[in-house]
Amino acid sequence: MPESAVDGRTWLLSGPASSYAVHVTEADELVHLHWGARIALADAEALAVRPLPDYWPFESPLDGREEYPVEGGARFVRPALSVRTAERRGTEWTFAGHETDGDELRLRFRDAGLAITLHYRMRGDVVERWTTLRNEGEQPLELLRADSATWTLPDRDGWRLSQLHGRWAAESRLARSPLTYGEKVIGSRRGHTGHQHLPWVALDTDATEEHGEVYGCALGWSGSWRIAVAQLPDARVQVTGGAGYDDSGLLTLAAGESFTTPVFAGLWSDGGFGGASRAWHAYQLAHIVPGADRDRPVLFNSWEATWFDISEEQQTALARRAAAIGVELFVVDDGWFGARTGDHAGLGDWTPNPDRFPHGLKPLADQVHALGMQFGIWVEPEMVNPDSELYRAHPDWVQFQLGRKRTELRNQLVLNLAREDVQEYLWQQLDTLLSSAPIDYVKWDFNRCFTDAGWPDDPYPQRLWVDHVRALYALLDRLRAAHPGVAFESCSGGGGRIDLGIMSRADQVWTSDNTDPLDRLAIQHGFTQIHPARTMAAWVTDSPNAQLNGRVSSLRFRFVSAMAGVLGIGGDLTEWTEEELAEARRWVELYKEIRPVVQRGDLYRLRPPEGGLSAVQYVRGEESVVLAWLQAQRHGEPVPALRLRGLDPTASYECRETGEIHRGAVLLHHGLRTGLRGDLDASVIRLRRI
Ligand code: DGJ
Repeated sequence: MPESAVDGRTWLLSGPASSYAVHVTEADELVHLHWGARIALADAEALAVRPLPDYWPFESPLDGREEYPVEGGARFVRPALSVRTAERRGTEWTFAGHETDGDELRLRFRDAGLAITLHYRMRGDVVERWTTLRNEGEQPLELLRADSATWTLPDRDGWRLSQLHGRWAAESRLARSPLTYGEKVIGSRRGHTGHQHLPWVALDTDATEEHGEVYGCALGWSGSWRIAVAQLPDARVQVTGGAGYDDSGLLTLAAGESFTTPVFAGLWSDGGFGGASRAWHAYQLAHIVPGADRDRPVLFNSWEATWFDISEEQQTALARRAAAIGVELFVVDDGWFGARTGDHAGLGDWTPNPDRFPHGLKPLADQVHALGMQFGIWVEPEMVNPDSELYRAHPDWVQFQLGRKRTELRNQLVLNLAREDVQEYLWQQLDTLLSSAPIDYVKWDFNRCFTDAGWPDDPYPQRLWVDHVRALYALLDRLRAAHPGVAFESCSGGGGRIDLGIMSRADQVWTSDNTDPLDRLAIQHGFTQIHPARTMAAWVTDSPNAQLNGRVSSLRFRFVSAMAGVLGIGGDLTEWTEEELAEARRWVELYKEIRPVVQRGDLYRLRPPEGGLSAVQYVRGEESVVLAWLQAQRHGEPVPALRLRGLDPTASYECRETGEIHRGAVLLHHGLRTGLRGDLDASVIRLRRI
């Protein structure tokens, strides 16, 4: 519950370990007071009356102190809010009051014709912030920029910035570097979250994996976005972020219209990077990811097994083998619909290809169910191939600019989801599809960026950037409500759409198209900085790795790598030998046993994936699981023991693999010997408290 001071202008929100405090001055400036370790309301009140340092006229006392810097007046930082009407630009607000509603605090401000509400909510130690803007005037008002929130860090020396960068098939790479004066801007101007950056940053001065203060900020938006981290001239640091990449116009609000920004969440932790990750995971499992109290099934996906060349008979053969090794969900990927025999045609026509599925999907779905598995299907609803019935009927339903070429990527165009007729078409198609056969799972893909984001019939065409995302969310929400038994996977050519916004509508995400088990360790290391293993889909595919680097690896290494998240199989099982299938069956069985610990336990990254030995540990109640991978053993460099985490030093633990009894304190301080050797070795070690 937010606390208010008697001055009616100072507020404090507290979680189990942290607090957040703000204050409105007599001049109606909203200033940041505190974000960090837990404090009392009296401490916030003391901070509110601390005089500001003196300033020369070339600087502003507000810069680096305001909760939501607007444009105008003596402010030189990047504004979170920039608005324009026919008469003026910028904002001069007055404080209009506050409300608390359950655990939410609302601070209201008003400028001529514009109502601004800043929202705060504490969930665990995550502060959720968002902003509502309402045009209360008579003239249209343009939102050039409307960030969700600006975060202010305390005065410290030597800030470092952590970010997750990447590209297709190499997502979520962790990079950490000193912050310097000026701005570091990350984001996407591609219309979707993008493979290039996850919308997350972390800042620390001297944290390690398990110790020290870490500040993290993560945005819940699946379209273009921007996070700017600024180190100001007096070394203060602010992070501002929201929807859209540019400042050149987000939306126009007609009289009476409003816009609610996505949530920009912030987390303080003094448990190092690992402690911060675990707090982010707990937050997502409790508040974001649907049905996170249930484990995700082991799936089979047909993509790398059969690519576009699919038929009912051949999928049935795969399904039989998948069921025999213990798979619980069988997913038919691309190629089942329209004229989709390659990537050149068919997107947009969501009815089964009559040559491949002469009686629709139901016979295959029934077979899969009869084999004891759930049935899933791939779709890419936001796209169309020019070679499709849909495009031939509605060439104006795509994003395009009059008189310009329509840029094709992967032979496809982006549908203009801001159009109501397109929204209705997609709803009809997908609702009919989900009603036509017993479908339990939808893999929802998105395989190209926006390029010609025009809408010739609309007076403010740039709104399609925001409205596309809003329409996507509305469609997913409507489908989920109408088909509550169906689970959804978010995919965008692998990890091109992973953020807290899509995660609140997706049961899991496709982490990367890179299924090489060694490359994957680095991707998973980055992914788990923010997102939980319970959402991180990972497949065992064939060796040599067919799609990417041709690496040869053992089934053991491939399985242990994929068991770090939601296990899936993506290889061509019809080519696997009886021995391989028998081995796969044992790994699947083992995964099912450790699954609750992996998917819902606390995750400790014991050693990063660089170099020789890397490992992850999961702890849930009395159980702990260690997954360890040795990339290459070098003679004369002993493989180190793994110092475990999260155990009781006074307890003893039985190793289920060897039967050995280990003392907790010994495992914590001296470590566990893995016995790994050679190249690309891996192992699963189960420990149970006795
Ligand atoms: C990209 C996805 O990431 C793959 O897993 C697969 O579904 C293909 N699209 C299908 O076109």
